[in-house]
Amino acid sequence: MRRKLAAGNWKMNGTAAALAELETLTAKGAPENAQVLICPPSTLISRAKDVAGDIISIGGQDCHANQSGAHTGDVSAEMLKDAGATHVILGHSERREDHNERDEDVRIKAKTAWDAGLVTVICVGESLSEREADNTLDIIGGQLAGSIPDGATGENLVVAYEPIWAIGTGKVPTLSQIGDVHDFMRARLERRFGEGVGRTVPLLYGGSVKPGNAPEIFAVSNVDGALVGGASLKASDFGAIIAALDAS
Ligand code: 13P
Repeated sequence: MRRKLAAGNWKMNGTAAALAELETLTAKGAPENAQVLICPPSTLISRAKDVAGDIISIGGQDCHANQSGAHTGDVSAEMLKDAGATHVILGHSERREDHNERDEDVRIKAKTAWDAGLVTVICVGESLSEREADNTLDIIGGQLAGSIPDGATGENLVVAYEPIWAIGTGKVPTLSQIGDVHDFMRARLERRFGEGVGRTVPLLYGGSVKPGNAPEIFAVSNVDGALVGGASLKASDFGAIIAALDAS
């Protein structure tokens, strides 16, 4: 059985006041059939962990490729772990765009994160022009091959498919487009890491997931959960998405 995961990416949103939303979610208790992860800004990780306890897992949104050193302003995987994180998002398209992160950078960071004992949520996704040129699967295949280090397992890796054009836009691929990419990712992971491992890596869909579209997305083959941006900031919305995953 694969783990189902509802992951919230708060991006650069949230001060201490936002912890009230996490408190509301935590008070609902852990869902029976799914794990819940919130990735707040790194300034809130430690306090978020105190609020979430063992009910909700806490993650970072990025880490440096090195475990420590002269890298002003950066955060290491070890520091995230020390602050209470169990996961880290890597290779989000906003990091790839804003910080010119390439697949190779993501791969090196992932190794460092694994060494620190973190689960990596590695993001892949095509741009609108790549989708329109019918290059989606080539792009996703290349990103998977380049961004995931050797040594992946069903325990240390989660993959999130986030089409760039669906992030924060309200646009969502059709269910068959989501299914095609997820089936393709599953096949690629099984080919590279063996069926036993490839079959157990949770695959998340991300991009404008809301309470209204979550149930149909979770019914798509090889969709094991979601990576949610905007709708994860409100306990009522994210709670409804968690409930949909739990029931799927
Ligand atoms: P939205 O859910 O706001 O579209 O963001 C998706 C995302 O980028 C999550 O990492």
